[in-house]
Amino acid sequence: LDQFSVSLHNGFLPTEPPLQHLPDPYYAPWESVMADLPDLISTGYIRREVLRLPVLSTDKLYREAEWQRAYLILAFLTHAYIWGGKRPEDRLPPSIACPILEVSTHLELPPCATYAALNLWNFATVSETDADLTNPDNLALINSLTGTDDERWFLVISVAMEACGAKTIPLVLNGINAVEIGDNDLLVRVLNEMTACIEELGCILERMYERNRPAVFYHQIRPLLAGSKNMTAAGLPNGVFYDIGDGKGDWHQYSGGSNAQSSLIQLFDIAFGIEHLASGEVGHKEAGHRAFMQEMRNYMPGPHRRFLEYIGTVANIRQYAMSLPASSDVRQTYNTAVMKLGGFRDKHIQIVTRYIIMQARKSQSSPSDRSVSGTQRLNLASATSACMDSKKKEAQVFYGTGGTALIPFLKATRDETKAAARFVD
Ligand code: ALA
Repeated sequence: LDQFSVSLHNGFLPTEPPLQHLPDPYYAPWESVMADLPDLISTGYIRREVLRLPVLSTDKLYREAEWQRAYLILAFLTHAYIWGGKRPEDRLPPSIACPILEVSTHLELPPCATYAALNLWNFATVSETDADLTNPDNLALINSLTGTDDERWFLVISVAMEACGAKTIPLVLNGINAVEIGDNDLLVRVLNEMTACIEELGCILERMYERNRPAVFYHQIRPLLAGSKNMTAAGLPNGVFYDIGDGKGDWHQYSGGSNAQSSLIQLFDIAFGIEHLASGEVGHKEAGHRAFMQEMRNYMPGPHRRFLEYIGTVANIRQYAMSLPASSDVRQTYNTAVMKLGGFRDKHIQIVTRYIIMQARKSQSSPSDRSVSGTQRLNLASATSACMDSKKKEAQVFYGTGGTALIPFLKATRDETKAAARFVD
């Protein structure tokens, strides 16, 4: 598993706690901006500070954890720079563009704020004695864009889910092996344990409501997580120009943060042989041809992406379950596990409805309603929604920061999950 940067205990989270600072004082200018990031964004000084940064080299990054810390810093600064003003900024200066292109190439990630930057490499434990990462109460963020407890909660819920889901890795491997050796009892045990794990993940997910207020999420946090792809209405018709100096650079377009970039979530689908066909861009002018879930694998660290690819080549559970009679224990436990994953996606749809759809509608009906503290300079509701027919609210499509037509995409993904429980001849 080492070659895939995956561990039995922590799954896709790093085995060592992520670095909170780069050790070499050479990087002090980056760290000092990061120390004040929420204030610099809320007061509107972030762009000025970034423009003052020197163009630092990546030569003083040695350990993988240092590259990951550098990526986190530069990914946060990228989004802070683009979205941290009244209007989005479509030129990223060399002080960020140069190093983030090198760091993201090293880590095989896109140069923007992915799930790896926001979640996987951005947590710390609160207590020295209790290192249980499955409890979000124990988790703090290393860096935050808004400094709100709501943002902490939004991001650490996923960290806790990754920690809880770590046990899936040996389960999936054992399940595949059980099919190989025809051990139905073992396979049934594995599937039951996977069902129990998905249940636990659903419980952690539903804790989102405890400390992340929908209005704070929607108006303060979410706008900073937006991507640069299909963002014409938001003011980035060409994406973002990564200026590497001397008049050189390129335009880039990336999806914003999305939990479809979680390798854990995709691992379940791969292990269960669930096929996702939805492009995620239903009704979008530039409908993509590649399925969104597949595209999101490019937003995972290279070794994790290769782990999923490898599991995809050996996944055999669905085929085996479907080869057995409908009344068999294997078939029934497989169906139960798949339906549990579908139920997990129902919970996610409810959260998205409350945190995004209801908030978007509320802002549209009373645009002056900003019942949240802090400066609210961005409202992506209009940027990320397309009104197919202005007279019919039902026809309105809201887009997620990942770029999907949110509810149609999530429902299609949920339906494709539940459909796997049915035998297809
Ligand atoms: N993908 C989430 C959203 O669309 C963060 O808000």
